[in-house]
Parts: sequence; structure tokens; C-alpha cells
Amino acid sequence: MAAATEPAPSFYEQVGGRETFQRIVDAFYREVALDDVLKPMYPEEDLGPAAERLLLFLEQYWGGPTTYGETRGHPRLRMRHMPFKVNPDARDRWLSCMRIAVDEAELSPMHRETLWDYLDRAAHAMVNTFED
Ligand code: HEM
Repeated sequence: MAAATEPAPSFYEQVGGRETFQRIVDAFYREVALDDVLKPMYPEEDLGPAAERLLLFLEQYWGGPTTYGETRGHPRLRMRHMPFKVNPDARDRWLSCMRIAVDEAELSPMHRETLWDYLDRAAHAMVNTFED
């Protein structure tokens, strides 16, 4: 029975692949553009390139294409965020933007919880200063 040997679909596939992640990332950066603490942190005026990097990273993390690693190398996210002042306020704003984006994607409760749990933990791990 061929079906029995097929690998289980990845989380990436289960939630709808690129289309779903693209929607989440688009909505996230739409919200970032409205945030007066987050928006100025981004080195480029155009958030498009940053959106592309986040999309590729999330796709890879959840079992989709590995383009992120091929183009950017090892994620080393904490290190890559060191140039930016990620204090608890920035973290909470980042999470608020992401919460809106994830809610709009209307995933099943289980997928939503799984994704949110990761994003919440990752955002807490990214804090690199407690200064204002
Ligand atoms: C906690 C608050 C966070 C803030 C304020 C923040 C801010 C930023 C900024 C300013 C950049 C540079 C933009 C650019 O790529 O040009 C960046 C890059 C990035 N961030 Fe965050 N970030 C946060 C959390 C996270 C989390 C939780 C993740 C992953 C789950 C993440 C994933 C990324 C990725 C993949 C990049 C691009 C890295 C690369 O250069 O390849 N960030 N972030």
C-alpha cells in the first residue's frame, strides 16, 4: 500500500502552503507599517524585502521550501536581531501585529495554537534589552 509509506504532510502543507504564509506575512507588515515604534526599526523604507525574508524563513521552519537557508544561510535569528533594540515593548508590538495577521488567516484551532505558541516563544527569546 503506497499510501502507508507516504510521509505525513508537513504543517506547511496542512495549513495551505505558500498562499497562507504569504497572507500572514502581508498582513503582519501591513500592521508593522502602522506602528510608530516598529516601522522606524526597519532599515529599508520599503518593507517588501524584510517581508520576503520573514516569509522564506517561516516557510522553511514549518517544513516548506528551504530557500531561506539557501539564500541567507543559518537563521541565527537572535544574532541577526542584535543590531535592533528589541525590548519588551517592541516584542509586544511585534506580537500584536502578528496576532492580527494570524487571526485573519483563519486556521483551524489546532494549527493556530501550534503556530502561535511558536511565535510567542520566539518573540520572547528575541528580546535583547530591557532598556526603554
Ligand atoms: C520580538 C520582536 C521583533 C522585532 C522588533 C523584530 C524586528 C526585526 C527587524 C527590524 C529586522 C530587520 C529587517 C530586515 O530583514 O531587513 C528583522 C529581521 C528578521 N526577523 Fe525579526 N523581529 C522580531 C521578532 C522576530 C521573530 C519572533 C521572528 C521569527 C519567528 C523574526 C524573524 C525575522 C527574520 C527571519 C528576519 C530576517 C533575517 C535575515 O536577515 O535573514 N523576528 N526583525
